[in-house]
Amino acid sequence: EPAELERRFEEVIAREERVEPRDWVPDDYRATMIRMIAQHAHSEIIGMQPEGNWITRAPSLRRKAILLAKVQDEAGHGLYLYSAAETLGADRDELTRKLIEGRQKYSSIFNYPTLSFADVGVIGWLVDGAAICNQVPLCRSSYGPYARAMIRICKEESFHQRQGYELLMTMMRGSDSQRRMVQDATDRWWWPSLMMFGPPDADSPHTERSMAWKIKRHTNDELRQRFVDMTVPQADALGVTLPDPDLRWNAEREHYDFGAIDWAEFKRVVAGNGPCNAERVAHRRAAHDDGAWVREAAAAHAARRAERDGA
Ligand code: 3HC
Repeated sequence: EPAELERRFEEVIAREERVEPRDWVPDDYRATMIRMIAQHAHSEIIGMQPEGNWITRAPSLRRKAILLAKVQDEAGHGLYLYSAAETLGADRDELTRKLIEGRQKYSSIFNYPTLSFADVGVIGWLVDGAAICNQVPLCRSSYGPYARAMIRICKEESFHQRQGYELLMTMMRGSDSQRRMVQDATDRWWWPSLMMFGPPDADSPHTERSMAWKIKRHTNDELRQRFVDMTVPQADALGVTLPDPDLRWNAEREHYDFGAIDWAEFKRVVAGNGPCNAERVAHRRAAHDDGAWVREAAAAHAARRAERDGA
């Protein structure tokens, strides 16, 4: 009965074991995991758009091939994560409809424009770098299918981060105008990358319980700090300046202190009023509508097959 089921669930969590699709879980745990996995999947799919914008204008065949592979990886991560959400009883079509109707979130970071090819490098370096910071701990998340998906995804994110950093290194060894493009892209993507980690812990309604259920292994602020500490030396090695005059090493804390984040901007973007929100959702809606005939044909084919086999 419920009390025994609850006790067993809590025991699995306490023993750092994995919760699997067949296990009984509290309704709120299921709802939280569907929310988090679905929004992660949406982020991967929407995240294809900013960089996809540059596939036809990559400066060389090599850069085009790398960018194609990366955008294709993001699509795969999305499909992988929708499958993980389905193990919790979520319906993929329903999740897509919620995304298209603006009833489910995706990462704020993808609502910013990609204005030059240096953005492709900075997205690899900062956005995929932040994603790695946020997702490596999720490999130890208590929900089995999600944690296992993270292991595969983190391996590919490492390639994404490396290719971005290598692209920037190449541009920084190039002309003055290439160096200016890298600095301009860094200036535009730095603060939005810090916002990827979510609101401050004090304003995060989900963190406490997600930590108790070992869904999250660190809080938003802890991972944000880890990302800043990791990235400052990389910016120095690249020769770019991070756009934060308050950024400085704090020997006492053994972390970098950094300036205030514009949480009003974060709230605006999450609420749908960022630079590219409407365009991103409209593009996703158009792709869904354009693909309706494929879904209908596949369903008709499956029904015909079932009829024939059943007959
Ligand atoms: N963008 C949009 N919404 C955000 C957000 C962001 N950057 N950060 C937080 N939010 C939303 C939350 O979804 C929540 O709203 P909801 O209740 O309607 O879902 C609200 O703001 C409060 O935030 P919390 O911190 O309390 O919520 P969470 O505990 O869910 O933490 C999170 C937010 C850290 C993003 C967490 O959900 C998480 O770690 N998710 C899994 C990883 C993920 O989705 N990363 C997105 C990066 S994009 C990516 O990885 C693609 C790669 O190719 C770059």
